[in-house]
Amino acid sequence: MKQDFNQKIDRSNTEAAKWERYRKAAGSNPVPLWLADMDLPCSSTVRDALIRRAEHPVYGYTDRDASYYRLFADWFNGQHHYRVTEEDVILSTGVMYSITCAIRLFSREGDKVVVLSPAYAPFIHAVSCSRRRLCRSRLRDTGKRYEIDFCDLEEKLKTAKLFLLCNPHNPTGRVFTAEELGKVAVLCERYGVRIISDEIHCDITYPGTCFTPIMNVNAWTRENTIACVSPTKTFNLAGLKISAVFIKNREMNELFRKEAAAVGISSINLFAMCAVKAAYTESSAWRQDVMEYLAGNRQTAAVFLRERLHEIAFYQPEGTYFYWLDCSRVKDAPSLGEQFLKHGLILSRGEEFSEDCRAFYRLNFACPKSMLEDGLRRMETVLRNITEL
Ligand SMILES: Cc1ncc(COP(=O)(O)O)c(C=O)c1O
Repeated sequence: MKQDFNQKIDRSNTEAAKWERYRKAAGSNPVPLWLADMDLPCSSTVRDALIRRAEHPVYGYTDRDASYYRLFADWFNGQHHYRVTEEDVILSTGVMYSITCAIRLFSREGDKVVVLSPAYAPFIHAVSCSRRRLCRSRLRDTGKRYEIDFCDLEEKLKTAKLFLLCNPHNPTGRVFTAEELGKVAVLCERYGVRIISDEIHCDITYPGTCFTPIMNVNAWTRENTIACVSPTKTFNLAGLKISAVFIKNREMNELFRKEAAAVGISSINLFAMCAVKAAYTESSAWRQDVMEYLAGNRQTAAVFLRERLHEIAFYQPEGTYFYWLDCSRVKDAPSLGEQFLKHGLILSRGEEFSEDCRAFYRLNFACPKSMLEDGLRRMETVLRNITEL
């Protein structure tokens, strides 16, 4: 039986960040379309596995055998042809912890770390908290999609130590092609810049798009990439805190493995391990259903935006469940966030991703369709109020 994702789920009393963080400002009937989790139920097989384990009354120290590493290798090899072995896999409680750990291991204080801009906000903090210098290479809006400006990227990489890639890209939804990644690889190799690649959204792509792991691009990227992946976006398990890192280079792998153990990030919660096993081995029907549902919502939002909110510019995302909305044609766009909030609508603000994106908003469409439509109607109300002023 198909999973019913139209049902609204009451997340009150679960301390859901997406619903609670702006509770005061957004009022009693909020539509939170910001933080990157889904307002959709996870797979019943995951839920059943967690309940079964929770029913056992002892939650003691737990070992992980090779089968858990194989779970990750099998999933990512099967879905995206990564060609990783169990030895390449290091478990971690979260992609951002892995990224911070990698930045600290593979660069020194004061070194430059290049990101594509706009950039997922925690990237910015991971770099600055590690006392490295953030260097942005701005994506170009070509009128067809956002693209890497290779001349600019080359300039930035010349003096950099690391390139922190996000593919599929949050917030723009671009899934970089093998050709684009090939050019990135050439530049990184030319200037000896290792790649940390955040591929957390790689399972969420739409028909017509093919995700390529940058470590597969050539022999150099295979030896010089730290790839960060996770089941948490795909299967909506963010609160369980689990992810993995793939490093093929033996020396880098050993270094990272030791550091991850020393700082505790490879110490995975037993419930997360239960969930990931059920997700990767028994949830393919749910996954197919959720991807169809997301594709439907992506289309719903596109039609609404095109027909009723034509002052907003956007591209359909190739991957992720975000729309990156360019509101720069709207009067006083940076203050729109406040107006949305007054109407209970919570979107992520562009300035979190880059100072020059104050006219942008990111919308998360992983929710029941009725909730998405409610949010879009609230946007319309705000925009009509502005035009009528
Ligand atoms: C690109 C990207 N990386 C990392 C994360 C967070 O991952 P984790 O919770 O595993 O640290 C997110 C969550 O939104 C994300 O979008």
